[in-house]
Amino acid sequence: MSQPADSIRTLLDADELAGIARRLGSEIRRDYPDGVVLVALLKGSICFLADLVRELPGPCELDFLALSAYGDGRTRVRVVKDLDLEVAGRDVVVVLDIVDTGLTLSYLLRLIALRGAASAVACALLDRQSRRLLPVDICYVGKVIADEHVIGYGLDLDERYRNLGEVQVADEADLRGEPTAMFERLSRR
Ligand code: IMP
Ligand code: MG
Repeated sequence: MSQPADSIRTLLDADELAGIARRLGSEIRRDYPDGVVLVALLKGSICFLADLVRELPGPCELDFLALSAYGDGRTRVRVVKDLDLEVAGRDVVVVLDIVDTGLTLSYLLRLIALRGAASAVACALLDRQSRRLLPVDICYVGKVIADEHVIGYGLDLDERYRNLGEVQVADEADLRGEPTAMFERLSRR
């Protein structure tokens, strides 16, 4: 049986996303008046980062890092695209789309500490605490969410749906189905 249209829900609409970027941007600006390096994790954080930096009119530098999971249960992580900036002695805020098991974030914070950063904390749009495997501290959190896969605003399912304007939830079998029809249903919300 096909899923009813209401298997699609918007978790964060454009106004709520803008509100989160504004709130977290002003918290970061308050905490780092003399400047900060934002290290964004590719690719899921791109939309969030774009909104967040424009709420941070103070001194700020940007860099990007891409990781890839591998091994049994994909519980090991390696660097696919490394930082360009030298972060030694700098205050760093890592920007992520979502913290799930915490493996990615703890790897990132360890890596940045090894590079000699003066400090490193995390800023995540979404926090799915129920699936945590490693305890991690997230300094700036957009929203805590339940245990369901989310898409849109940079977040994907198998590389699709990053270009949706809002954060949405939908039946995973539907999402893996015919992409054009599903995309139409999603963007109609
Ligand atoms: P962690 O290492 O398990 O915390 O996973 C974090 C990464 O998994 C995120 O940076 C996302 O790229 C990806 N991820 C986890 N949950 C979701 C989701 O619901 N939608 C899209 N990507 C997700
Ligand atoms: Mg992904």
